[in-house]
Amino acid sequence: MSRRFVIGGNWKMQVPRQVNAVKIAQEIAIKSKDFLSVDIFIAPSFNTLNAVGKVFTDSNVALASQNMHYMDSGAFTGEISVDSLQEAGCKYVLLGHSERRRIFQENDEIINLKVKKALEKGIIPVLCIGETAKERQDEKVKAVNEDQLSGSLKNVSTSDMRKIVIAYEPVWAIDNKFLNPGIQIRPATLQEAHGAHQIARNWIENKYGSIIAQEVPIIYGGSMKASNAQELLSSDQIDGGLIGGASLSAETLIPIVQYAELLSKDTTKPYSWEGNTLSFDK
Ligand code: PGA
Repeated sequence: MSRRFVIGGNWKMQVPRQVNAVKIAQEIAIKSKDFLSVDIFIAPSFNTLNAVGKVFTDSNVALASQNMHYMDSGAFTGEISVDSLQEAGCKYVLLGHSERRRIFQENDEIINLKVKKALEKGIIPVLCIGETAKERQDEKVKAVNEDQLSGSLKNVSTSDMRKIVIAYEPVWAIDNKFLNPGIQIRPATLQEAHGAHQIARNWIENKYGSIIAQEVPIIYGGSMKASNAQELLSSDQIDGGLIGGASLSAETLIPIVQYAELLSKDTTKPYSWEGNTLSFDK
């Protein structure tokens, strides 16, 4: 497998104070230094981007933002410009996270403008897609994820598509009670995640061709932890993880990075999903 693993930490609004953010970042930077085969990033709160960015300078960990506006500057109260993110040293930006889509009503049109602005400015968009529990129950996994891909990636050129990371995050798996009132939150099984990643990769292949489809990392998010990461990452369709809760300490994040590093030494990923059977290839 030629794609590199990408392991991203999404701190959401969980580490609001700089002193705590810097402390966790320092531990992650130190403990990640030997994992050279994995692209690691952390997305802290806006107010801590500069300080966390300084900690990551000359480390193996990149800085990411959790969001951005699609204009360079202007009268947009409460928003942040891509220039501010670049000044802080961000390499990645999360776009279209379910919390943005569902709690803050961002739609594909807005996300598409953001994706294009990030690409124009040279920041890697991590485009998040994913269906709700109800949509999965109604067998709309393919339709919903394809719709989000086509809406969010409208008019994105083939050469730009190479610079994007896709994060498949089923809403029902994200450890967030506001997103999932009244449902039992659980991580996707290997088969569920593998199937959805295959849908996304097929969509990319139909639109951009097989070479690009093989290059674009598609990472999984939603209650990923050390206890399930090894299995999920063993799919030949899953190129890493976007991790919320388990990215809040080096202790819970580093084992996931370690699995990715180990699996990246494997030239053939152990699991591939052929039709309805999970086969062990090695
Ligand atoms: P979680 O969050 O790992 O806490 O479920 C993932 C995400 O929302 O990116």
